[in-house]
Amino acid sequence: VTVRANRQVVLAELPGSGPLRVEHFAARDGARPEPGPGELLVRPIVLSIDSANRAWMSGPTYRPQLVAGDVMAGYALAEVAESRDPAFAPGDLVFADTGWQEWSTVPAAEATGVRPVSALTHHVSVLGVSGLTAHVGLHDIGRVRPGDTVVVSAAAGATGNVAGQLARIAGARVVGITGSAEKNALLERDLGFAATVCHRDPDVLGALRAACPDGVDLYFDNVGGPLLDTVLRCTNRGARIVCCGAVSAYDDASGATGPRQVPGRVVTHRLRIEGFIVLDHVDRWPAATAELAGHVASGELRVLEDVLDGLDRAPEALVGMLAGENVGKRLVRVGTDPG
Ligand SMILES: NC(=O)c1ccc[n+]([C@@H]2O[C@H](COP(=O)([O-])OP(=O)(O)OC[C@H]3O[C@@H](n4cnc5c(N)ncnc54)[C@H](OP(=O)(O)O)[C@@H]3O)[C@@H](O)[C@H]2O)c1
Repeated sequence: VTVRANRQVVLAELPGSGPLRVEHFAARDGARPEPGPGELLVRPIVLSIDSANRAWMSGPTYRPQLVAGDVMAGYALAEVAESRDPAFAPGDLVFADTGWQEWSTVPAAEATGVRPVSALTHHVSVLGVSGLTAHVGLHDIGRVRPGDTVVVSAAAGATGNVAGQLARIAGARVVGITGSAEKNALLERDLGFAATVCHRDPDVLGALRAACPDGVDLYFDNVGGPLLDTVLRCTNRGARIVCCGAVSAYDDASGATGPRQVPGRVVTHRLRIEGFIVLDHVDRWPAATAELAGHVASGELRVLEDVLDGLDRAPEALVGMLAGENVGKRLVRVGTDPG
């Protein structure tokens, strides 16, 4: 019997509380799975590297915690190779949690079909979860208005760069926070950010006050931690805080940090702090995707992607992203586009 090969990256050891390292992963040669009834055999093409991948290791989130020995979980754009469900046929493209491997079986009910577009990677960046998260967070949760001062953290990242650009398109004045002067220069030069702040600046509060002379009306928060407290101190009455993620806390299993401005300033400034998970808003996806695609086609929305080649590079792609190496959406190309 010939066992058909399947390269896989497993989570060899849980990182616990502390930075994730490439040593927590191991590559191995497994066997290609067979799809059961209602399942698809898929070939991942591009892996989506997400901050959430780290959060899944720390405890239950909106999915069960990962355990040592698991094939590393992760979403990918994939091609259907075999289908045991009438909703899909070989050659179809899907977005699904395939894990970090060359072949995967997924329940058809958990795969989202996507249309072929000229750049397939866009399904994993601007037209995928990152773009949708930015859109839902900014419009549905943040209710952005023309003239708002909008602050975005991790602003050169996958979600943040789209959130910032959408805010600019909506007529807001956009201020980005990132970890480097190079990223900030790019945001101001190429993406229309009005001002930027570096979160490593010893006086972040002073820099943020200078960048937001009219105060902050909306904060799109990807980071959490002490930076949230700093931004809260610059908020205007009635400001909205959109809690999209807390990447600064994903290495800290203690969960001990909390902003000191809550609840005092929330009361005095009538703030609204609201979290969301983009998966709860699937009803909004078709309209949001259409709008995002329109902005890309018109050139108003620049697509920032950061691609590494080869499945074995997925661990370094994730570790590097959490350290702030990436500019735009971090992806790993695992296979070729369908021919
Ligand atoms: N709510 C939802 O449904 C949903 C969906 C998708 C993503 N998210 C969230 O969106 C956020 C962004 O995720 P992404 O996948 O798009 O990743 P990303 O922004 O492309 O990459 C993460 C970025 O976070 C920044 N960062 C890392 N540690 C930091 C720290 N201690 N302080 C400040 N910044 C830090 C780094 O950039 P710099 O330090 O250089 O700025 C890094 O590039 C995450 O919080 C994620 O959980 C939420």
